[in-house]
Amino acid sequence: RTARFTLDPAFQVGEVNPRLFGSFVEHLGRCVYTGIFEPDHPAADEAGLRTDVLELVRELGVTTIRYPGGNFVSGYKWEDSVGPVEDRPRRLDLAWRSTETNRFGLSEYIAFLKKIGPQAEPMMALNLGTRGVAEALELQEYANHPAGTALSDLRAAHGDKDPFGIKLWCLGNEMDGPWQTGHKTATEYGRIAAETARAMRQIDPGVELVACGSSSQSMPTFAAWEATILEETYDLVDHISLHAYYQPENGDIDSFLASAVDMESFIENVIATADHVGAKLKSKKKINLSFDEWNVWYISKWHEIENSETRDWAEAPRLLEDNYSVTDAVVFGSLLIALLRHADRVTVACLAQLVNVIAPIMTEPGGPAWRQTTFFPFAQAAKYGRGRVLDVRVDSPTYETQKYGEADLLHATAVRAEDGSVTVFAVNRSRTEALPLEVALGGLDLSRVVEHSVLADADPDARNTLAAPERVVPHTGEDTSIEGGVLKSVLEPLSWNVIRLG
Ligand code: AHR
Repeated sequence: RTARFTLDPAFQVGEVNPRLFGSFVEHLGRCVYTGIFEPDHPAADEAGLRTDVLELVRELGVTTIRYPGGNFVSGYKWEDSVGPVEDRPRRLDLAWRSTETNRFGLSEYIAFLKKIGPQAEPMMALNLGTRGVAEALELQEYANHPAGTALSDLRAAHGDKDPFGIKLWCLGNEMDGPWQTGHKTATEYGRIAAETARAMRQIDPGVELVACGSSSQSMPTFAAWEATILEETYDLVDHISLHAYYQPENGDIDSFLASAVDMESFIENVIATADHVGAKLKSKKKINLSFDEWNVWYISKWHEIENSETRDWAEAPRLLEDNYSVTDAVVFGSLLIALLRHADRVTVACLAQLVNVIAPIMTEPGGPAWRQTTFFPFAQAAKYGRGRVLDVRVDSPTYETQKYGEADLLHATAVRAEDGSVTVFAVNRSRTEALPLEVALGGLDLSRVVEHSVLADADPDARNTLAAPERVVPHTGEDTSIEGGVLKSVLEPLSWNVIRLG
């Protein structure tokens, strides 16, 4: 059966915020050290940044980059990470049972963003695990105050005369999780988040603040957590965070392919909860969503080694270096579609993470950098998913999944650029069957298929590796056309598709 939907410029979800294409650099494994920063590497610049990685980061098209954690942030002492490198202390990183050398710190992070280009924006996470209001204010003063105070002058003495201008701040990380250093109950966290937010706004009323939502929809405290913390912070914060990672469970690939069903329900449930609190408070304000950690992550592999003795305070150990298959990339593309379909309320999203750690970019110390399969959907969405998301309601054949019941085989969205061109992003979740697609183009002035790019492979388990870094790349789709105002195509089994119309 054919999958169908209609596009009409009159029916829109909303404008895509460029921050939807954010990513995340955590002091974890080799994301920083031998990932983005490797002073001894032949491609390193004068600051020790790997220029080969910088080029891939630019090609990926990331915007906002969250830093320095993640779980790491809940033990982070920002003052260890500034000033002369030789004076910076080595510290235990409890989150990842590693040794943090602090050779890369706050100033290096800002320099990294500048080298990526003007699209890169900082998103700084605060330690509300082992620290609180005072340290948050000190970091804000060090980072953002122009001059003439102890901490702003210290920044200048450290070589950064100009303030960093960090606008977007996360009030802690995953504070609902018992694994988090300094884990809190919703009431405890709601109070510290509110007080930190209130104080930070005393320095600068214009800061944008993200309160910690749940670490996943399956947390036992989910929704009650959001309601409690938003009751404390509603007028003081701008966003609430969501985190979600997906992997096949017990070999159930069909459910894995429908992971976006969970992601979309998570988004809709957080919107409902936030709006319920807003209604209770009789507030006109809307809280937006910061999906600031999302990805495919084989977390069960991590849990297998999490407590092993070999993980004994190493520097930049190889951790969470998942190697992604074509199947993973199709699920990943579907997660991107889920974010775009909610672009009216999801105004920040961060792919966790950027390099080596569950990442689209991999590196070898002293060696090359390459693109994982997941690199391609992200780069294409970041490039062509700009403009206004059109309201897509699919009429699709379905399949049965153990986890989510009946799910659509087609998952899709469409984005209309300012020049009137439209890009359709579509996933065929069938592992065996091609899926005929028809899209009625209604009131859109579109006559030609500019490009149909497909990520699919006869071997759904194919991956890019150090030995074969270009084993998987997108190819051109065949027989995609516009006939009588209808886009017609056939989506390959288990495929991610980008169809550009002009
Ligand atoms: O991205 C890896 C980890 O996942 C982060 O440190 C944490 O916030 C989440 O649990």
